[in-house]
Amino acid sequence: MRRFAVIGQRATSSPTFLMRDIPGTSGRLDVLIRCLRAALLVSHGLRRDTVIYLVLLGDMPTTLRFSGNAAKYIRPDEHQLAILVRKLLAWPADSARFVEMREGIAIARGGLEVVLADAGACARYVLDERGADMRTLPLEPDALFLLGDDRGFPEGFAVEGTHVSVGPTSVQAEDALTLIHNELDRR
Ligand SMILES: C[S@@+](CC[C@H](N)C(=O)[O-])C[C@H]1O[C@@H](n2cnc3c(N)ncnc32)[C@H](O)[C@@H]1O
Repeated sequence: MRRFAVIGQRATSSPTFLMRDIPGTSGRLDVLIRCLRAALLVSHGLRRDTVIYLVLLGDMPTTLRFSGNAAKYIRPDEHQLAILVRKLLAWPADSARFVEMREGIAIARGGLEVVLADAGACARYVLDERGADMRTLPLEPDALFLLGDDRGFPEGFAVEGTHVSVGPTSVQAEDALTLIHNELDRR
């Protein structure tokens, strides 16, 4: 199973952000929504072997989990995905364990700790511009890949894992995610 977690350092867990200004009113939830699209959608379908966690640390830490093997109605249109996320955030979640809201979509209160507990004992990679070139590494396909948002990966997060670079250029988070998918696909 390929697992991705995107850490939104100031991404809101409140459904009150404005659809007409998502970047400006949601703590850059737009970055995470683009990662959701890049993680799960392929041409004419979903990646069934992929799970993505959106970790929203802006106010009350909350994590949304989307599982490609069961999720439905995940659309390539970012506006529609934002509407979906807004509906999900209206859910009165109070559990530190994932509770399924819809098929393949679950919510938990908490941040990275709930992701690490849920992902279990798989390999962990932190996507980091300064990490080792992914082409020099035997990437495990059964793994959790951690990404930062527009501000990068949070400094204070001591995550045990291999730091991996997808190339010499600092790219958008969703592009880094796509490059990992592509590398694993090619192998
Ligand atoms: C837009 S980048 C962050 C840029 C931010 N200004 C910084 O300097 O950290 C968002 C995330 O994408 C991932 N990323 C971007 N370029 C990468 C690269 N070349 N190799 C590995 N990960 C990368 C990292 O996880 C990064 O935290």
